[in-house]
Amino acid sequence: MSRLSGVAAAILALALVPAVPAGDEAWVTLDRGTAQQALVGLAAAGRPGALVIVDAGRPEALSTAARESDVVVGRISVSEVELLPEILHAARKRCGGFRRHSSREEAEQAAAQANDPEHRVLPPQIGYTIDNGPVVNALLPRIQEPGIKTMIVALGDFYTRRHTCPTGLQSATFIHNRWQAMAASRPDVTVEYFDHVVTNQPSVILTIPGSTLPSEVVVLGAHQDSISGSGCTSPSAKAPGEDDDASGIASITEVLKIALRMGYHPQRTVKFMAYAAEESGLLGSDEIAQAYKNQNVNVVGVLQLDMTNYKGSTGDIYIYTDFTNATQNTFVGNLVTTYLPGLVKGNSACGYACSDHASWHARGYPASFPFESKFGEHDPFIHTPQDTIENCGNTANHAVKFAKLAAAYMAEVAKGGLTSN
Ligand code: BES
Ligand code: ZN
Repeated sequence: MSRLSGVAAAILALALVPAVPAGDEAWVTLDRGTAQQALVGLAAAGRPGALVIVDAGRPEALSTAARESDVVVGRISVSEVELLPEILHAARKRCGGFRRHSSREEAEQAAAQANDPEHRVLPPQIGYTIDNGPVVNALLPRIQEPGIKTMIVALGDFYTRRHTCPTGLQSATFIHNRWQAMAASRPDVTVEYFDHVVTNQPSVILTIPGSTLPSEVVVLGAHQDSISGSGCTSPSAKAPGEDDDASGIASITEVLKIALRMGYHPQRTVKFMAYAAEESGLLGSDEIAQAYKNQNVNVVGVLQLDMTNYKGSTGDIYIYTDFTNATQNTFVGNLVTTYLPGLVKGNSACGYACSDHASWHARGYPASFPFESKFGEHDPFIHTPQDTIENCGNTANHAVKFAKLAAAYMAEVAKGGLTSN
């Protein structure tokens, strides 16, 4: 490594500390070599920290193994972005070298596309129409709190659902068997384990095959594992994870139960996924999304429910804008307005790849993440032995809203009808 790039690497590491005030920000993409030149140049111009590399979804782009040509996403203040052409021109003896984008999402899409020539950020695969009202309005009133609460408590009864623990394998079997029992009267519906390379905890996938568009896949997902402390049996290892993320599993399970009970037959294939080992780095969803991409599976929509039962903000449903698909997010917001008109929706962001939606987003699949609160106002008990439904008011009322949204999403994306009502 040359002396210059060593200095630049040190500055690059420092630059990971946020320095740009929100609201005054511009989004750029640039290759790693150019980013280093920009960081050195800005520091020399008396503005160290002006450019912040925010490509947390693709940390390998920042590692020493990365290629100079890897594209990273940067945040820089609107005033300082003007300095970039001059600095880069001086360093490179030529113009350009970075692209400016109107939002972080656009910058991330551009970087993803640039880094993977195979990668296509697909134009919307579906019309995002909202015209299956009779089905949605038949499903929604049947989605009720007691079923969700019962499932949350049943999952919380496992001492920990940590992917490395015996009780984390038992909880996977429990979800598999629950889903299989619900599908007993539907020979077309399958329930399978998805075995992983990096963990012994399997994911669980239930499939309702589509009638007329079976190759188009709609995913409703949540993570089945929980985490607290270390090990599997110590007092601090107790991880009921009743909000994180028994609430998500219970929400999609309620949708499944009602859909099957009412004889729902979608046009597109619907898959319910209980991901393994999210808490250790999105491990389960990462392998699944990669396998689907490798097999060219046409996933037209992904909805992630992770933490649905703690009402920490004034609004009801917060649609997260990072590591998600902006077009689908608008549609999800329209579903709230159309079918859950009493609810207050808002937007927020994790600021990093915080849950399984990011695994799909990274492969170019459209994912959305409606969440219980604004980021920072979420359940303070997660990842502790106190993540219980008691600390969510001892009711699953908040989760009901997310289960209803997921049902509306399923019926409007996968469309199709009911054989009983
Ligand atoms: N449910 C959380 C993510 C979360 C927490 C979203 C708080 C919004 C607010 C998830 O299970 C989790 O803990 N994720 C990890 C990151 C993951 C890649 C291991 C986290 O947030 O630290
Ligand atoms: Zn979670």
